[in-house]
Amino acid sequence: MKTFYIETFGCQMNAHDSEKVVGTLLEKGYQQVAGPEDAELVLYNTCSIRDKAEQKVFHRLQQFKHAAKNSKKTFGVLGCVAQQEGERIFERAPHVSLVAGSASYTKLPELLIQLEAGNRRVTGLSLDTNETFDTPFTRRDNPHRAYLTIIEGCDKACAYCVVPFTRGPERSRTSESVLREAHSLAETGYTEVQLLGQNVNSYRDPSPAGWDFARLLAATGNVAGIRRVRFTTSHPRDFGRGIVDAIDEHPALCNHVHLPVQSGSSAVLARMQRLYTRDDYMRRIEWMKNSRRDIAITTDIIVGFPGETEADFAETVDLIDQVEYDSMFIFKYSKRPNTPALAYEDHIPEEEKTRRFLILQERQRSIQMRRNGAYVGKTEEVHVEGYNLATGQWIGRTSQNKTLNFHDMELPAPAEGRTLTGQYLDVLVTRAGPNSLAGQRAGSSSIHSRMQ
Ligand code: 5AD
Ligand code: SF4
Repeated sequence: MKTFYIETFGCQMNAHDSEKVVGTLLEKGYQQVAGPEDAELVLYNTCSIRDKAEQKVFHRLQQFKHAAKNSKKTFGVLGCVAQQEGERIFERAPHVSLVAGSASYTKLPELLIQLEAGNRRVTGLSLDTNETFDTPFTRRDNPHRAYLTIIEGCDKACAYCVVPFTRGPERSRTSESVLREAHSLAETGYTEVQLLGQNVNSYRDPSPAGWDFARLLAATGNVAGIRRVRFTTSHPRDFGRGIVDAIDEHPALCNHVHLPVQSGSSAVLARMQRLYTRDDYMRRIEWMKNSRRDIAITTDIIVGFPGETEADFAETVDLIDQVEYDSMFIFKYSKRPNTPALAYEDHIPEEEKTRRFLILQERQRSIQMRRNGAYVGKTEEVHVEGYNLATGQWIGRTSQNKTLNFHDMELPAPAEGRTLTGQYLDVLVTRAGPNSLAGQRAGSSSIHSRMQ
């Protein structure tokens, strides 16, 4: 029996890739262990979206540089850093034997055979593929909420972004294969699915049915047993009105959309090669604000993109005041290899990026206080995710993707095999903070569909 350990960095696509990699390894007779010390094969599934993320994996590898000499451990680097750095990784970390990007995971069994045969320079680095990594052996981490890939890769060319270089060209799965997996997830007891893709909105069914994303989303929302459907991530350029219509019509589709804007200035958006203007973006926000459902909107913003003036930044501040996001991720621009923005002039000093970051963070905090405050006194359905021993509260998530921690009189804590995890319950919101809500269980909203 061969043992392996895997550590995953980065986005949900990476988390799900790791679930598929783990499933593949288990199927090949490997056994997963909890720490790198006990593992014969140590894998890092890496992220290179920003420089800090990339550095993490090299720190990890450094920790083992000397120990590796005297042990029989094999090290592998997977994911975006692997694809980006390729064989250079063997020079920086000579104890690494496997370097493979996500577009090569379909070849994982062959790569493992090479490793087992003692080859110490095994690579999977071709991006020339029209395949997606579909496997029946996925080992999912969460028993209630399942990731489901619908599209891989990215055909956009945002000037700051490594993804088109690390994940290869866009390729969609057939709607039939996606729905088959959704049905099979429902049969195994999953009640929530999260459709995944670097840009789900550009989903295009390769089969003659030719479905677009809105159609696929609606069909997933109709799968018996699936109570919640989420999706990530969206690109505003490809975000069609049909998606909002689908959310309006299908209660199983969660009322949450993550729509990264990156900047509120059309001039910056143009230099970012985002392919939409501020007005185009605001039109999409209007569709959502006019929806029958109360759709939570979240976003990503980059501060300090090369050439971002004080006036450009003021437009971003103004946009977040106008949209009133439910939550946002703010990033300081980070130079990435191969990307067009690297060659741009007028890079912004680090201190200035930090200043802009803090202004946005503060502004957004008060918006979230206000928005979350409006939920006090309302009853919200949560999907229970677990129990927090430190606070003595159950952890729930609303359809809008807000964390709602709550007390339950009947079952104050997990006991004798009894748990609320996985159930859908109504919770009365009694308090609100900028990042979460708190409340009291109001009563079960329905029979929970998963056997404990
Ligand atoms: N620097 C900073 N942030 C970035 N992002 C992508 N590339 C960069 C970069 N070079 C952010 C974007 C994207 C999110 C996943 O990461 O906001 O939406
Ligand atoms: Fe990067 Fe743009 Fe692709 Fe998103 S859509 S991953 S920001 S290139």
